[in-house]
Amino acid sequence: MRIGILTGGGDAPGLNAAIRAVARQCFALGDQPVGIRNGWAGLLGKGEVREIAQTDVSGILHLGGTILGTSRTNPLKNDADMAQLTRNIAAFGLDALAVIGGDDTLSVACRLNEMGIPVVGIPKTVDNDLCETDYCIGFDTAVGTVVDGLDRLHTTASAHHRVLVTEVMGRDTGWVAVIGGIAGGADFILIPEVPVEVARVCDHVQRRYALGKEFSIIVVSEGVEMPDIASKESVQEVDAFGHVRLDRRGVGDTLSRLIEHRTGLETRVTVLGHLQRGGSPSALDRSWASQLGVAAVDMLHDGTIGVLAAVHGQQIEPVPLSAIVGRTRRVDPALYKLASVFY
Ligand code: F6P
Repeated sequence: MRIGILTGGGDAPGLNAAIRAVARQCFALGDQPVGIRNGWAGLLGKGEVREIAQTDVSGILHLGGTILGTSRTNPLKNDADMAQLTRNIAAFGLDALAVIGGDDTLSVACRLNEMGIPVVGIPKTVDNDLCETDYCIGFDTAVGTVVDGLDRLHTTASAHHRVLVTEVMGRDTGWVAVIGGIAGGADFILIPEVPVEVARVCDHVQRRYALGKEFSIIVVSEGVEMPDIASKESVQEVDAFGHVRLDRRGVGDTLSRLIEHRTGLETRVTVLGHLQRGGSPSALDRSWASQLGVAAVDMLHDGTIGVLAAVHGQQIEPVPLSAIVGRTRRVDPALYKLASVFY
């Protein structure tokens, strides 16, 4: 088979490990891996596609980013683009696709599968919010960056007796905030799943201060909705999939101003932003990416198509793409409650 590989949507540490794994299993089974540049954009127009050689995937396991490039291109927006995708898939002689992405990228893969193209998906997003899989490539490294940041912020917060607000990624869900916050010793965590009023955060910070805890670390997901802060929907700029540009919203900055104004305690904000998507993947991300990439090629060989190679416990199992697209795996309220034990 000639198996096309693409990475779509926001990048995440571990993409190169996944590309390498797909390619290596292709070589092992006598297939030809073919790299598609910049996500779905690489199959539009004339297409940007190139066969992957053994040397292309040597020495990339530890590298962040993606050697194939990525983009937030949405061909589902018009039928002509979907038709162009299928024409290019035929023109480049691709027998099947291994698509590494999150919900947006996989929604296109799902449609292509319905149109008769054999496709297997590999879960990737630092937000870790795909349904029917326990894990998405990139999450562990992003959490590691948050924990490293919180460790550093603790020392400066304690030195200055300040409140430090840390804004982390998580467009619709608070996985990065909750796991990063628990592991990094956050004193309050705010996530999109649980609306909390600013007054409650202020009360908590003041109560801590009264108890002699002279600093507080507040972790807030970029996608949190709070009654006192402008909603996500108020942001005008959107990407190709209609998601608002949360970096423009500045929820951490607004929250920090409100806390300082209402409590009188000196407050600063740190936005970790794209640091969470950059850098070398953790051991866990490399390991899952390697296992998922191999499993995806095996599924294509078995004729198990139109599926996501999903992590279930320590196993990898196929789940129909149609069962995951358009859905979001949200933080378990019990886990969020557990985090408060440490506040
Ligand atoms: O897709 C994951 C994500 O990292 C979100 O957490 C974040 O809101 C978004 O991507 C940022 O996307 P971009 O890099 O396109 O601005």
